[in-house]
Amino acid sequence: MLDGTKLFINSQQSIMDALTRMNSPYCQVLICIDENNRLQGLVSEADIRRGLIEGIELWASIDKVMNTAPLYVNKQVSKKEAFDLVSKQISVLPVVDTDKVVLGYYLFQQKEDPFTIQNKKITILGVGYVGLTLALVLAERGFKVNGYDRNSDLIRQLQQKEAPFFENGIEQLLEKHSQNNINFTTDITQAKGAIYIITVGTPLLKEEKQPNIEYVEAAATAIGKQLSEGDLVLLRSTVPVGCCRDVVLPALEAASGLTCGQDFYLAFAPERTVEGVALKELKTNPQIIGAFDPVSYDYAARIFQNLTKTVINVGGLEEAELCKLMDNTYRDHIFA
Ligand SMILES: NC(=O)c1ccc[n+]([C@@H]2O[C@H](COP(=O)([O-])OP(=O)(O)OC[C@H]3O[C@@H](n4cnc5c(N)ncnc54)[C@H](O)[C@@H]3O)[C@@H](O)[C@H]2O)c1
Repeated sequence: MLDGTKLFINSQQSIMDALTRMNSPYCQVLICIDENNRLQGLVSEADIRRGLIEGIELWASIDKVMNTAPLYVNKQVSKKEAFDLVSKQISVLPVVDTDKVVLGYYLFQQKEDPFTIQNKKITILGVGYVGLTLALVLAERGFKVNGYDRNSDLIRQLQQKEAPFFENGIEQLLEKHSQNNINFTTDITQAKGAIYIITVGTPLLKEEKQPNIEYVEAAATAIGKQLSEGDLVLLRSTVPVGCCRDVVLPALEAASGLTCGQDFYLAFAPERTVEGVALKELKTNPQIIGAFDPVSYDYAARIFQNLTKTVINVGGLEEAELCKLMDNTYRDHIFA
Protein backbone atom coordinates (compact mmCIF):
# COMPACT_ATOMS: atom_id res chain seq x y z
CA MET A 1 0.00 0.00 0.00
CA LEU A 2 1.44 3.34 -1.01
CA ASP A 3 1.41 6.47 1.08
CA GLY A 4 -0.93 8.50 -1.20
CA THR A 5 -0.90 11.28 -3.77
CA LYS A 6 -0.77 14.28 -1.44
CA LEU A 7 2.79 15.17 -2.48
CA PHE A 8 2.10 15.36 -6.24
CA ILE A 9 2.61 18.76 -7.92
CA ASN A 10 2.72 19.70 -11.60
CA SER A 11 6.26 20.72 -12.57
CA GLN A 12 4.84 23.72 -14.50
CA GLN A 13 3.35 25.25 -11.36
CA SER A 14 5.32 28.05 -9.74
CA ILE A 15 7.99 27.80 -7.08
CA MET A 16 5.64 29.90 -4.95
CA ASP A 17 2.96 27.17 -5.32
CA ALA A 18 5.50 24.58 -4.19
CA LEU A 19 6.46 26.66 -1.14
CA THR A 20 2.78 27.06 -0.24
CA ARG A 21 2.33 23.29 -0.39
CA MET A 22 5.50 22.74 1.63
CA ASN A 23 3.99 24.79 4.42
CA SER A 24 1.99 21.69 5.51
CA PRO A 25 3.34 18.92 7.74
CA TYR A 26 5.39 16.21 5.98
CA CYS A 27 5.32 18.07 2.63
CA GLN A 28 8.92 19.25 2.55
CA VAL A 29 9.64 17.16 -0.56
CA LEU A 30 7.17 17.17 -3.48
CA ILE A 31 6.90 14.82 -6.46
CA CYS A 32 6.85 16.78 -9.72
CA ILE A 33 4.68 15.30 -12.49
CA ASP A 34 3.46 16.33 -15.94
CA GLU A 35 -0.18 16.48 -17.08
CA ASN A 36 -0.12 12.70 -17.64
CA ASN A 37 1.12 12.06 -14.08
CA ARG A 38 4.56 11.07 -15.39
CA LEU A 39 7.47 11.60 -13.05
CA GLN A 40 9.51 14.74 -13.87
CA GLY A 41 11.53 15.15 -10.71
CA LEU A 42 11.50 15.86 -6.98
CA VAL A 43 11.67 19.29 -5.40
CA SER A 44 12.76 20.00 -1.84
CA GLU A 45 13.07 23.17 0.21
CA ALA A 46 16.83 22.96 -0.32
CA ASP A 47 16.40 22.86 -4.14
CA ILE A 48 14.28 26.02 -3.96
CA ARG A 49 16.76 27.77 -1.67
CA ARG A 50 19.61 27.02 -4.09
CA GLY A 51 17.50 28.28 -7.02
CA LEU A 52 16.59 31.53 -5.28
CA ILE A 53 20.26 32.15 -4.40
CA GLU A 54 21.09 31.70 -8.11
CA GLY A 55 18.49 34.37 -8.96
CA ILE A 56 15.54 32.25 -10.12
CA GLU A 57 12.27 34.03 -9.38
CA LEU A 58 9.49 32.79 -7.11
CA TRP A 59 7.05 32.83 -10.05
CA ALA A 60 9.30 30.68 -12.25
CA SER A 61 8.13 27.11 -12.82
CA ILE A 62 9.22 24.34 -10.47
CA ASP A 63 11.12 22.52 -13.25
CA LYS A 64 13.75 25.31 -13.06
CA VAL A 65 14.85 24.12 -9.62
CA MET A 66 13.74 20.51 -9.25
CA ASN A 67 16.03 17.49 -9.17
CA THR A 68 15.40 15.87 -12.56
CA ALA A 69 17.09 12.56 -11.74
CA PRO A 70 15.46 11.42 -8.51
CA LEU A 71 15.57 7.91 -7.11
CA TYR A 72 12.30 6.04 -7.78
CA VAL A 73 11.07 2.45 -7.61
CA ASN A 74 8.44 0.28 -9.25
CA LYS A 75 5.44 -1.11 -7.39
CA GLN A 76 7.03 -4.54 -6.86
CA VAL A 77 9.42 -2.94 -4.36
CA SER A 78 8.07 -3.27 -0.80
CA LYS A 79 8.25 -0.48 1.76
CA LYS A 80 11.01 -2.34 3.60
CA GLU A 81 13.10 -2.63 0.41
CA ALA A 82 12.39 1.04 -0.36
CA PHE A 83 13.52 1.99 3.12
CA ASP A 84 16.83 0.20 2.57
CA LEU A 85 17.35 2.27 -0.61
CA VAL A 86 16.80 5.73 0.80
CA SER A 87 19.61 7.78 2.25
CA LYS A 88 19.28 9.96 5.33
CA GLN A 89 18.45 12.99 3.16
CA ILE A 90 15.79 11.41 0.94
CA SER A 91 12.48 10.87 2.66
CA VAL A 92 10.16 10.47 -0.34
CA LEU A 93 10.48 7.67 -2.86
CA PRO A 94 8.10 7.84 -5.88
CA VAL A 95 6.62 4.55 -7.10
CA VAL A 96 6.14 4.45 -10.88
CA ASP A 97 4.89 2.09 -13.59
CA THR A 98 6.80 1.20 -16.75
CA ASP A 99 5.79 4.54 -18.39
CA LYS A 100 7.05 6.42 -15.34
CA VAL A 101 3.49 7.32 -14.39
CA VAL A 102 3.59 7.98 -10.65
CA LEU A 103 1.32 5.56 -8.78
CA GLY A 104 2.10 6.85 -5.31
CA TYR A 105 5.10 7.06 -3.02
CA TYR A 106 6.72 5.84 0.13
CA LEU A 107 7.23 8.56 2.71
CA PHE A 108 9.81 8.11 5.44
CA GLN A 109 9.49 10.92 7.92
CA GLN A 110 13.06 10.50 9.10
CA LYS A 111 15.61 7.83 8.40
CA GLU A 112 13.94 5.82 11.11
CA ASP A 113 13.78 2.07 10.66
CA PRO A 114 10.02 1.29 10.30
CA PHE A 115 10.85 -2.36 10.97
CA THR A 116 12.38 -1.79 14.36
CA ILE A 117 10.45 -3.81 16.91
CA GLN A 118 11.15 -1.63 19.93
CA ASN A 119 7.95 0.29 20.79
CA LYS A 120 5.87 -1.98 18.53
CA LYS A 121 2.81 -3.46 20.20
CA ILE A 122 2.53 -7.25 20.03
CA THR A 123 -0.92 -8.85 19.97
CA ILE A 124 -1.17 -12.51 20.92
CA LEU A 125 -4.33 -14.34 19.81
CA GLY A 126 -5.13 -17.21 22.17
CA VAL A 127 -3.67 -16.83 25.66
CA GLY A 128 -3.81 -20.49 26.61
CA TYR A 129 -0.65 -22.28 27.59
CA VAL A 130 1.51 -21.27 24.60
CA GLY A 131 0.18 -17.73 24.21
CA LEU A 132 0.30 -16.81 27.89
CA THR A 133 3.84 -18.02 28.54
CA LEU A 134 5.09 -16.18 25.45
CA ALA A 135 3.16 -13.02 26.40
CA LEU A 136 4.74 -13.05 29.86
CA VAL A 137 8.28 -13.53 28.58
CA LEU A 138 7.81 -10.73 26.02
CA ALA A 139 6.37 -8.45 28.72
CA GLU A 140 9.34 -9.24 30.93
CA ARG A 141 11.60 -8.12 28.06
CA GLY A 142 9.77 -4.78 28.07
CA PHE A 143 7.37 -5.27 25.16
CA LYS A 144 3.81 -3.95 25.38
CA VAL A 145 1.56 -6.93 24.73
CA ASN A 146 -2.16 -7.40 24.04
CA GLY A 147 -3.39 -10.81 25.18
CA TYR A 148 -6.59 -11.51 23.27
CA ASP A 149 -8.74 -14.60 23.80
CA ARG A 150 -12.39 -15.28 23.07
CA ASN A 151 -12.74 -17.20 26.37
CA SER A 152 -14.13 -14.50 28.69
CA ASP A 153 -13.66 -16.61 31.88
CA LEU A 154 -9.98 -17.02 31.07
CA ILE A 155 -9.55 -13.29 30.37
CA ARG A 156 -11.32 -12.34 33.63
CA GLN A 157 -9.02 -14.70 35.53
CA LEU A 158 -5.91 -13.22 33.89
CA GLN A 159 -7.06 -9.66 34.52
CA GLN A 160 -7.33 -10.66 38.19
CA LYS A 161 -3.75 -11.94 37.97
CA GLU A 162 -4.75 -15.57 38.63
CA ALA A 163 -2.70 -18.26 36.90
CA PRO A 164 -4.99 -20.56 34.88
CA PHE A 165 -2.50 -23.50 34.97
CA PHE A 166 0.71 -24.51 36.69
CA GLU A 167 3.94 -23.23 35.25
CA ASN A 168 7.08 -22.34 37.23
CA GLY A 169 7.26 -18.56 37.76
CA ILE A 170 3.95 -17.71 36.12
CA GLU A 171 2.27 -16.13 39.21
CA GLN A 172 5.06 -13.62 39.76
CA LEU A 173 5.07 -12.54 36.11
CA LEU A 174 1.27 -12.24 36.02
CA GLU A 175 1.32 -10.16 39.19
CA LYS A 176 3.96 -7.88 37.68
CA HIS A 177 2.63 -7.51 34.13
CA SER A 178 -1.13 -8.11 34.02
CA GLN A 179 -2.74 -4.75 33.20
CA ASN A 180 0.74 -3.18 33.00
CA ASN A 181 2.84 -4.49 30.12
CA ILE A 182 0.06 -6.92 29.17
CA ASN A 183 -3.49 -5.87 28.47
CA PHE A 184 -5.86 -8.88 28.49
CA THR A 185 -9.04 -8.51 26.47
CA THR A 186 -11.84 -10.37 24.69
CA ASP A 187 -12.28 -7.49 22.26
CA ILE A 188 -9.92 -7.78 19.29
CA THR A 189 -10.61 -4.18 18.25
CA GLN A 190 -9.05 -3.13 21.56
CA ALA A 191 -6.00 -5.24 20.74
CA LYS A 192 -4.51 -3.52 17.73
CA GLY A 193 -0.84 -4.34 17.28
CA ALA A 194 1.92 -4.03 14.73
CA ILE A 195 2.93 -7.64 15.31
CA TYR A 196 0.32 -10.41 15.62
CA ILE A 197 1.13 -13.86 16.99
CA ILE A 198 -1.43 -16.66 16.59
CA THR A 199 -1.29 -19.25 19.38
CA VAL A 200 -4.84 -20.63 19.27
CA GLY A 201 -5.53 -24.33 19.72
CA THR A 202 -5.47 -26.90 16.92
CA PRO A 203 -7.19 -29.86 18.60
CA LEU A 204 -7.55 -33.20 16.86
CA LEU A 205 -10.94 -33.93 15.31
CA LYS A 206 -11.64 -37.35 16.83
CA GLU A 207 -13.57 -38.91 13.95
CA GLU A 208 -11.44 -37.62 11.09
CA LYS A 209 -8.17 -37.85 13.08
CA GLN A 210 -7.22 -34.51 11.52
CA PRO A 211 -6.22 -31.28 13.28
CA ASN A 212 -8.97 -28.69 13.45
CA ILE A 213 -7.52 -25.53 11.95
CA GLU A 214 -10.77 -23.55 12.09
CA TYR A 215 -9.55 -21.55 15.09
CA VAL A 216 -6.37 -20.61 13.22
CA GLU A 217 -8.38 -19.47 10.22
CA ALA A 218 -10.78 -17.48 12.44
CA ALA A 219 -7.83 -15.80 14.17
CA ALA A 220 -6.24 -14.90 10.80
CA THR A 221 -9.52 -13.38 9.58
CA ALA A 222 -9.87 -11.36 12.80
CA ILE A 223 -6.32 -10.03 12.33
CA GLY A 224 -6.96 -9.30 8.66
CA LYS A 225 -9.86 -7.01 9.53
CA GLN A 226 -7.51 -4.69 11.40
CA LEU A 227 -4.21 -5.35 9.64
CA SER A 228 -2.20 -2.28 8.59
CA GLU A 229 0.60 -1.84 6.13
CA GLY A 230 3.93 -2.98 7.55
CA ASP A 231 2.43 -5.36 10.14
CA LEU A 232 3.90 -8.79 10.80
CA VAL A 233 1.81 -11.93 11.41
CA LEU A 234 3.44 -14.93 13.08
CA LEU A 235 1.80 -18.33 13.38
CA ARG A 236 2.93 -20.39 16.39
CA SER A 237 0.20 -23.04 16.70
CA THR A 238 1.11 -26.55 15.58
CA VAL A 239 -0.41 -27.03 12.12
CA PRO A 240 -0.28 -29.35 9.10
CA VAL A 241 2.33 -28.47 6.47
CA GLY A 242 0.90 -25.82 4.12
CA CYS A 243 -1.45 -24.20 6.64
CA CYS A 244 0.39 -20.86 6.66
CA ARG A 245 0.39 -20.47 2.90
CA ASP A 246 -2.94 -22.13 2.10
CA VAL A 247 -5.10 -21.03 5.04
CA VAL A 248 -3.56 -18.15 7.01
CA LEU A 249 -2.22 -16.11 4.09
CA PRO A 250 -5.47 -16.13 2.03
CA ALA A 251 -7.56 -15.35 5.14
CA LEU A 252 -5.31 -12.38 5.95
CA GLU A 253 -5.35 -11.08 2.37
CA ALA A 254 -9.12 -11.53 1.94
CA ALA A 255 -9.99 -9.74 5.18
CA SER A 256 -7.46 -6.93 4.79
CA GLY A 257 -7.27 -6.31 1.04
CA LEU A 258 -3.48 -6.18 1.52
CA THR A 259 -0.82 -8.30 -0.18
CA CYS A 260 1.56 -10.55 1.71
CA GLY A 261 5.23 -9.72 1.16
CA GLN A 262 4.37 -6.28 -0.17
CA ASP A 263 2.05 -4.74 2.43
CA PHE A 264 2.45 -7.12 5.37
CA TYR A 265 4.77 -9.92 6.44
CA LEU A 266 4.21 -13.54 7.46
CA ALA A 267 6.27 -16.15 9.28
CA PHE A 268 5.91 -19.42 11.17
CA ALA A 269 7.79 -19.82 14.46
CA PRO A 270 6.82 -22.99 16.32
CA GLU A 271 6.59 -23.36 20.08
CA ARG A 272 8.90 -26.15 21.29
CA THR A 273 9.04 -25.74 25.06
CA VAL A 274 8.29 -28.37 27.70
CA GLU A 275 5.38 -27.65 30.05
CA GLY A 276 6.61 -26.70 33.52
CA VAL A 277 9.78 -25.00 32.30
CA ALA A 278 8.41 -22.96 29.38
CA LEU A 279 9.33 -19.56 30.84
CA LYS A 280 12.94 -20.67 31.09
CA GLU A 281 13.04 -22.52 27.77
CA LEU A 282 11.61 -19.58 25.83
CA LYS A 283 14.85 -17.80 26.77
CA THR A 284 17.22 -20.71 26.13
CA ASN A 285 15.83 -22.98 23.38
CA PRO A 286 16.89 -22.18 19.80
CA GLN A 287 13.97 -20.60 17.95
CA ILE A 288 13.13 -22.00 14.52
CA ILE A 289 11.66 -19.58 11.97
CA GLY A 290 10.44 -20.12 8.42
CA ALA A 291 9.10 -17.11 6.57
CA PHE A 292 7.21 -16.03 3.47
CA ASP A 293 10.21 -14.01 2.27
CA PRO A 294 13.54 -12.69 3.59
CA VAL A 295 11.98 -9.47 4.89
CA SER A 296 9.38 -11.43 6.88
CA TYR A 297 12.19 -13.57 8.30
CA ASP A 298 14.25 -10.56 9.28
CA TYR A 299 11.27 -8.94 11.01
CA ALA A 300 10.28 -12.14 12.88
CA ALA A 301 13.87 -12.90 13.89
CA ARG A 302 14.17 -9.51 15.57
CA ILE A 303 11.47 -10.49 18.08
CA PHE A 304 13.06 -13.77 19.08
CA GLN A 305 16.58 -12.34 19.13
CA ASN A 306 15.29 -10.37 22.12
CA LEU A 307 14.39 -13.61 23.88
CA THR A 308 16.98 -16.21 22.98
CA LYS A 309 20.56 -16.44 21.71
CA THR A 310 19.96 -18.78 18.77
CA VAL A 311 17.46 -18.07 16.00
CA ILE A 312 17.52 -20.51 13.07
CA ASN A 313 16.26 -19.67 9.59
CA VAL A 314 14.98 -22.95 8.17
CA GLY A 315 13.89 -21.37 4.88
CA GLY A 316 10.22 -21.14 3.93
CA LEU A 317 6.97 -21.49 5.84
CA GLU A 318 6.56 -25.19 5.01
CA GLU A 319 10.05 -26.09 6.22
CA ALA A 320 9.31 -24.59 9.65
CA GLU A 321 5.90 -26.29 9.82
CA LEU A 322 7.56 -29.61 9.01
CA CYS A 323 10.33 -29.05 11.61
CA LYS A 324 7.70 -28.75 14.34
CA LEU A 325 5.91 -31.92 13.22
CA MET A 326 9.20 -33.85 13.08
CA ASP A 327 10.04 -32.52 16.55
CA ASN A 328 6.73 -33.85 17.93
CA THR A 329 7.12 -37.14 16.05
CA TYR A 330 10.60 -37.60 17.53
CA ARG A 331 9.27 -36.94 21.03
CA ASP A 332 6.38 -39.39 20.57
CA HIS A 333 8.85 -41.98 19.36
CA ILE A 334 11.12 -41.46 22.40
CA PHE A 335 8.15 -41.71 24.78
CA ALA A 336 7.00 -44.88 23.04
N1 LIG B 1 0.80 -26.84 25.24
C1 LIG B 1 1.98 -27.14 24.70
O1 LIG B 1 2.90 -27.63 25.37
C2 LIG B 1 2.28 -26.84 23.26
C3 LIG B 1 3.59 -26.90 22.84
C4 LIG B 1 3.88 -26.61 21.52
C5 LIG B 1 2.87 -26.26 20.64
N2 LIG B 1 1.57 -26.23 21.07
C6 LIG B 1 0.56 -25.85 20.08
O2 LIG B 1 0.24 -24.47 20.32
C7 LIG B 1 -1.15 -24.23 20.06
C8 LIG B 1 -1.82 -23.70 21.31
O3 LIG B 1 -1.72 -24.69 22.32
P1 LIG B 1 -2.13 -24.38 23.81
O4 LIG B 1 -1.67 -25.55 24.60
O5 LIG B 1 -1.69 -23.04 24.20
O6 LIG B 1 -3.73 -24.42 23.66
P2 LIG B 1 -4.80 -23.89 24.72
O7 LIG B 1 -6.04 -24.65 24.46
O8 LIG B 1 -4.21 -23.86 26.09
O9 LIG B 1 -5.01 -22.36 24.28
C9 LIG B 1 -5.61 -21.98 23.09
C10 LIG B 1 -6.42 -20.72 23.37
O10 LIG B 1 -6.87 -20.19 22.14
C11 LIG B 1 -8.14 -19.61 22.37
N3 LIG B 1 -8.79 -19.43 21.06
C12 LIG B 1 -9.27 -20.36 20.22
N4 LIG B 1 -9.72 -19.78 19.10
C13 LIG B 1 -9.52 -18.46 19.23
C14 LIG B 1 -9.75 -17.35 18.39
N5 LIG B 1 -10.26 -17.49 17.16
N6 LIG B 1 -9.41 -16.13 18.85
C15 LIG B 1 -8.85 -15.99 20.06
N7 LIG B 1 -8.59 -17.00 20.91
C16 LIG B 1 -8.93 -18.23 20.48
C17 LIG B 1 -8.84 -20.56 23.29
O11 LIG B 1 -9.91 -19.92 23.97
C18 LIG B 1 -7.69 -20.95 24.22
O12 LIG B 1 -7.64 -20.13 25.38
C19 LIG B 1 -1.71 -25.57 19.56
O13 LIG B 1 -1.60 -25.61 18.17
C20 LIG B 1 -0.75 -26.59 20.17
O14 LIG B 1 -0.73 -27.79 19.44
C21 LIG B 1 1.26 -26.50 22.36
